[in-house]
Amino acid sequence: MSSIEVIGGEQLKGELKIQGSKNAALPIIAATILNKGITVLRNCPKIRDVFYMVKILEELGCRATWDGNVLLVDSSTLNSTTVPEESVRKMRSSILYLGALLGRCHEVTIAYPGGCSIGKRPIDYHLNALKKMNVVEEFHGKEDTIIHCHTNCIMGNDIFLEKPSVGATQNIILAAVLSQGVTRIFNAAREPEVTELCTYLIKAGAKICGKGTSFIEVEGVKELNDVDFTLSSDRIVAGTYMAAVAATTGDAVLLGAPVHQLDSTIRVLRKVGCNIDTIGNNIRISCRRRPLPIELLRTQPYPGFPTDMQSQLMTILSIADGKSTIIEEIFESRFQNVYELRKMGAMISVDSTTNKAVISGVKQLKGAVVKAHDLRSGAALVIAGLTAEGVTIVREASSIERGYEDICRDLETLGGNLRYCSENVLVS
Ligand code: EPZ
Repeated sequence: MSSIEVIGGEQLKGELKIQGSKNAALPIIAATILNKGITVLRNCPKIRDVFYMVKILEELGCRATWDGNVLLVDSSTLNSTTVPEESVRKMRSSILYLGALLGRCHEVTIAYPGGCSIGKRPIDYHLNALKKMNVVEEFHGKEDTIIHCHTNCIMGNDIFLEKPSVGATQNIILAAVLSQGVTRIFNAAREPEVTELCTYLIKAGAKICGKGTSFIEVEGVKELNDVDFTLSSDRIVAGTYMAAVAATTGDAVLLGAPVHQLDSTIRVLRKVGCNIDTIGNNIRISCRRRPLPIELLRTQPYPGFPTDMQSQLMTILSIADGKSTIIEEIFESRFQNVYELRKMGAMISVDSTTNKAVISGVKQLKGAVVKAHDLRSGAALVIAGLTAEGVTIVREASSIERGYEDICRDLETLGGNLRYCSENVLVS
């Protein structure tokens, strides 16, 4: 486990290019097995979760090679329908192979993905939908943690999602693309990563309409063709670095950002006092003063304010000039950073029955030894260290590498004073 040592006090300035999107790459890597051929995926981020997804491709018998940020997949050699339990334990997004393997092979064996620090992360919506598509589901192993699904034919059907689940929408689409008949998804997730999966599949010959809306219709086709596809850049990485510039009262330009996917994040950062201009796919953000508080900030499904930006805003609001309230509407336990920010002097109270955090801004945080609970809260603690007085050590920072190619490299490019260090470093 590595740590990150952050020395506070620098205002972030300069220019930084934004990496490819993790949450677009993961479902599309799973989708490559639906085409018994070649997929070229450009602008693919070289991050831990992508490496895990590619390892599973290879465990299934596919071939994958890298050329810089270009990932080439040949899934013609796929020879297994079992996703190793170890791989699922490491990364819950491997559950996206459920729909993809059913779509390609009409069979899959995969372990129940565990919960994680932000919540139980159930997959009942996924399983209920697939059952309605003529898929038989059996459970094996101790405590029924191994799922074996099979069907002689995936049948299109009408699926009503209780919540607009990103993963469930993606798995239903992956299973429906090569099915018989039409699948209509009601209350589908509208996240850009769902839209991007649909764009990739349509380019491969799938028949999908309604992408980006809460009603998506998939008409099954016989087969898909080879695709050369360029991933969009990562809206949460862009939002994270915008938050870092805001928190350090900096002035910087993010190059190649997915501007049109950032409306709610830009709106909230303007509320805390940032000046933000967008020129094409570049975003200039500056903040000349201590952040302003926000009376009430709720996380919501897209196009609302993203839950993956909640920790980063909590860091900004912990030094705002007044009192703010955040309500986390998506996950049941995504306030772990409160305990870490308190070590840095933040004044935050939490009502876990309503998933509400009330933040009374302090003038400045103080450096401390803190711990990253997940990749987004880890990134938010790095931002806290950049604004704090003194030195902050973010322990168990390796979780950040799951979604950020190199957060130290990126923030150093903007003038941040931070570096990776060994886990047992002592704060001087
Ligand atoms: C995706 O997770 C993202 N991951 C998450 O990003 C993101 O936070 C989340 O969507 C919400 O936007 C990827 O895209 C790889 P959901 P996912 O299914 O698909 C409940 C990051 O930091 N639910 O939309 O797992 C669930 O408990 C990660 O990059 C069920 O109850 O999220 C949650 O409360 C973290 N039953 C809500 O729906 C189900 O079967 C939304 O979850 C499925 C979900």
